[in-house]
Amino acid sequence: MGRYLEMINSPADVKLLTQDQLITLAQEIRDELVTALSKSGGHLGPNLTSVGSVRTERDLLEAVVYPSASFVRGYEPMILVTKSGEQLGGVLHKDAPDEVVIATGPETETRVARAEIAELRPGTVSLMPQGLDAQMSPQDLADLIAFLKSMK
Ligand code: HEM
Repeated sequence: MGRYLEMINSPADVKLLTQDQLITLAQEIRDELVTALSKSGGHLGPNLTSVGSVRTERDLLEAVVYPSASFVRGYEPMILVTKSGEQLGGVLHKDAPDEVVIATGPETETRVARAEIAELRPGTVSLMPQGLDAQMSPQDLADLIAFLKSMK
C-alpha cells in the first residue's frame, strides 16, 4: 500500500497533495506516533496510549509545561547514591530486598545491589524534561495537547 508518509521528503512534497490526500497523510502520521508511543521504551514515564481518557487538557498541559509540579504514581523521581559515591537519578523499576533497578532514561537502567546503596531518597525534579514548551510555538503546544487528549 503506497503510503504518503514514505513519499514525503520536503515541505514542497506536502504542497502537492490534495485535501483528501492530506487527510490520509495526517492519519498515517497519527498511526505512526501511536505505534511509537505504544511501544515500551518509548517514554520513560507512563504509557501514553490512553492518557486522554484519564487526564483533562489542563492536566496534560501541566504535565508538559510544569513536569515537576506533581508526579504520576510509580514514576516519582528517585536519587540513588552508591557507597562508592556514584549518584544516579531515575525512576525505580525494581525495589527488592537484594537489589534495586533504577531507570535513568527510556532505554537505560542500572542494577545496584542493595549492599552497595548508601542512600535512596525521593527527588524533587521530574525525569520528564522541563522546557519542552519553550521549543515549540503556542500552536504546536496546542496541537500536542489535543493529540495527547485524543489518545484514548
Ligand atoms: C514530546 C515529549 C514528551 C511528551 C509529550 C510527554 C508527555 C508526558 C505526559 C502527558 C505525562 C503525564 C502522564 C499522566 O499524567 O498520566 C508525562 C509524564 C512523565 N514523563 Fe513524559 N513526555 C515526553 C518526554 C519525556 C521524556 C524525554 C522523559 C524522560 C526521559 C519523560 C519522562 C516522564 C516521566 C518520568 C513522567 C512521570 C512523572 C511526572 O509526572 O513528572 N517524558 N509525560
